Amino acid sequence: MDVINSLLAAMTLEEKIGQLNLVAAGQAVTGPAGGGEASADIRAGRVGGLLNLWGRDTTAAAQRLAVEETRLGIPLLFCLDVLHGHRTIFPIPLAEAGAFDPLLWERTARAAAMEAASDGIALTFAPMLDVSRDPRWGRIAEGPGEDPFVAARFAEAKIRGFQGENSAARYSIAATAKHFCAAGAVTGGLDYAAVDLSERALHEVYLPPFHAAVAAGCAAIMPAYNSVAGIPMTAHIGLLRRLLRDKWGFDGVIVSDYNAIAELLQHGVASDPVEAAALALRAGIDMDMASGVYGRYLPEALARQLVGQEDIDSAVRRVLTLKQRLGLFEDPYRRIETAESPAAVPIELARDAARRAITLLTNRGILPLPAHLRRIAIIGPLADARAEMMGPWALAGNPNDGVTILEGLKAALPNCEITFAAGVAIDGEDKSGIEPACGLAAGAELIILCLGESADMSGEAASRAMPGLPGRQRELAEGVFAIGTPVVALLSSGRPLTVPWLAERAQALVATWFLGDAAGHAIADVLTGRFNPTARLPVAWPREAGQIPIFYAARSPSRPANAADPYTSKYLDLSTEPLFPFGHGLSYSLVRLENLRANRKEFGVHDKIEVEVDAINEGQCSTEETIFLFIHDLVARVARPLLELKAWAKVELAPGQTGTVTFALMGGSFCYPDETFAPVLEPGSFDIHVGLNADRNALLTIRLHAVSEAAASYAVSVTAKI
Ligand code: BGC
Repeated sequence: MDVINSLLAAMTLEEKIGQLNLVAAGQAVTGPAGGGEASADIRAGRVGGLLNLWGRDTTAAAQRLAVEETRLGIPLLFCLDVLHGHRTIFPIPLAEAGAFDPLLWERTARAAAMEAASDGIALTFAPMLDVSRDPRWGRIAEGPGEDPFVAARFAEAKIRGFQGENSAARYSIAATAKHFCAAGAVTGGLDYAAVDLSERALHEVYLPPFHAAVAAGCAAIMPAYNSVAGIPMTAHIGLLRRLLRDKWGFDGVIVSDYNAIAELLQHGVASDPVEAAALALRAGIDMDMASGVYGRYLPEALARQLVGQEDIDSAVRRVLTLKQRLGLFEDPYRRIETAESPAAVPIELARDAARRAITLLTNRGILPLPAHLRRIAIIGPLADARAEMMGPWALAGNPNDGVTILEGLKAALPNCEITFAAGVAIDGEDKSGIEPACGLAAGAELIILCLGESADMSGEAASRAMPGLPGRQRELAEGVFAIGTPVVALLSSGRPLTVPWLAERAQALVATWFLGDAAGHAIADVLTGRFNPTARLPVAWPREAGQIPIFYAARSPSRPANAADPYTSKYLDLSTEPLFPFGHGLSYSLVRLENLRANRKEFGVHDKIEVEVDAINEGQCSTEETIFLFIHDLVARVARPLLELKAWAKVELAPGQTGTVTFALMGGSFCYPDETFAPVLEPGSFDIHVGLNADRNALLTIRLHAVSEAAASYAVSVTAKI
């Protein structure tokens, strides 16, 4: 008998349920009840894993209790949220998504996995794959933005990075795709709120990143807190069992979110914790994170025949299998007790990731900073805000490790006299610092205005109904603009902020998000031109909250906006266009695209289609450009979005150089989920649009024709060559 079968044969009911129990320890608090001392429960075999505990000594001590002092010696699983770095903090995922660079996404996950594994961690609750089109939702910061195609590539890269070739290796950790599903569509952008969506939206937008994660071998899935059409995801038999397990073949562990099983009572689908335990287990939740409901109430659920012994055994088998895949039975201390020194991330990777995440939103010729500058004023509450640079979910990061914007610029501009005043706090009503700050700024040749949110204004439980600048920052900015000196505005935030007035009045506007440890140096690299910015927006940037949800992949209104006709789809008081579209982002160069062509006009589902476009660098410096390919299925049984991203490619160009970018698509890339949500290619015309962002007025277009109807898959490959 193998180790799992012999363990299952030897385990008592209490020991089995113990394996399903994921207990919060006290090193970090990521949920309502915090964590506590678990030694007695570990010794009694009532704990399968611990979350929020890391470090070699602490994890080794807890592991010893499980291995040496329990009847069966089953090792513990140590789990932690490693969303954007472990000890070394990288840019928040939303910012890193803007790099549009799967290799970078993988490298930062690998580096984080190595650090986390060196701290005893074997399972991370990442990547977060919630497509979100609502910047009111604070958790938009943790995910890859608005687009399912990008999110799917993000999922694959992160899972490769975390899990490596072999999840039993010392520096590999298991990944958890979360939050399954549609958490990014919570009503009103309110965290934990209900989700009411069409099945089509689920299949087209919210599920594909999770499907990609499963196909990439993701070890675990975490259901979302929210309900979908009235059924809480923690109890969703249709999506967890029928789709995820039966249809997609996911055989890994499903781990509940923090306290989510207990919250089935709050949802109003269980009348007591016994029913909650039964609902969750029957839906396929293997591990109970932090609610203790399985431990306390599954025995009664079994006695009441609300669950069967085989439900419990299958869950235990999956948990033990995960432990086996991680090599824990071979060596429970593999990631902990080793002669090797803990893995450390080269700071260069953190700096490179950070600058690749900075999005230059506007530039009226002021950036890069001119070399002759001698006096700069750095004004604003985010200029010298070390801890804020980490952003949300930086549990093991050291808030003192970050480089502030002020420090980065001082180091990069040794010949400049730099003065600094915060002016106002990030939030709050005190305006008394505005006048002195403006007085200080008045003598400068250029002002760098550092505005934004604090780290805890995004992430979990951080929804904002008015996602603009908090507190008195706008008044500070107005004071600074009144001086008349050129202003470069930097925005530190976990979401796009609604600041159209700032975009209009600053000479340059830069989204610096939350960039992690290397923030200040990375920002200085971009502002000085040492690094020519490459990031593009992974999410549309709204003008006002009233436009939300706003995203590029909309379907056509029955009456598209037309200024000449009052009876068309428009706001009376605002443009329907975002301030900056998906894919927007400037560099210090200027690339023009021309000559879009394809190697064929007609295709079937198995045909390969090569689409090429020439990119000309008309600027003065070398540049790296990102080129997006969208499709539009003109007529279909189900109305298709006006644009759907199917590929992107990057090309590096010297000044004056022309390069050719080749996109290799399969006919299957043109399919869509039919009435039963199976991929289908319908015959008919497709427009291929290629451009630098999702602004439909600035795209090159050619038309191709699918010749026959066929079932299909969604494969696509992309190569860029010069
Ligand atoms: C969050 C999860 C996280 C868990 C453990 C919950 O509150 O929703 O994303 O993985 O806590 O920290």
